Amino acid sequence: MANKALATRQRMRHRVEPSQLATRHHVARPAQKNHPAATRLVPTTVGKLTALLTGFHSTSSTTGTPMFETSAASDKPDYDLLNKQLASILEGERALMTNAAQFSALIFNSISDLNWAGFYFCSEARTADQGRPCDLLLGAFQGKVACVRIPFGRGVCGSAAQERKTFLVPDVHAFPGHIACDSASNSEIVIPIIKDGKLYGVLDIDSPRLARFNAEDQAGLESMLAAFIAATDFGSLPSV
Ligand code: SME
Repeated sequence: MANKALATRQRMRHRVEPSQLATRHHVARPAQKNHPAATRLVPTTVGKLTALLTGFHSTSSTTGTPMFETSAASDKPDYDLLNKQLASILEGERALMTNAAQFSALIFNSISDLNWAGFYFCSEARTADQGRPCDLLLGAFQGKVACVRIPFGRGVCGSAAQERKTFLVPDVHAFPGHIACDSASNSEIVIPIIKDGKLYGVLDIDSPRLARFNAEDQAGLESMLAAFIAATDFGSLPSV
């Protein structure tokens, strides 16, 4: 209860009124590092913009103003801030592809040195004769066109799905069976999507930089993915 009251108080403190938005040209300003407005305005303005979307579109189309901007891509992302932004972005919407697309865009534009960020979701296996429970089928993502279907247990993605654990790969070239969708990738993190004990797919993030992801990134990304999972309906998506 205490936490709920605190969250409500914080929401009230961060509330941005429509009149304030008008003077800001309906834009959540980019969050600069050490800029006090970054933590104060960005997450809540995004939430407010969601509520004001209809009016915002017309204003935006005449001014060319972007709908909203997220934090500049950071070498050491502020995962607490990213989690607040994510909560605002996902607020009021539980559709899988919508939330997955938004999640990919937030990650890709907030973390530096990424060449790919997105999802593979469980799909009926075309390799059933080999006893695989499902294939991983390309979902929403940011980056270059990618491999469409990954057999369960193959590559970093299939291994993370099979073992139901995060794979932090500092050098993908040293990972036996790595699947190179983009030759620019040098390191990778793959986190399984597990809800109520069922595996629905994986989140995959690639970087051209060797050892781009550390334990802090793993913890931050796992917490963001957990929030995405809680805020999203997986409906009739196949699971394992
Ligand atoms: N490298 C992955 C394949 C997916 S792409 O990187 C987007 C893997 O080995 O499973």
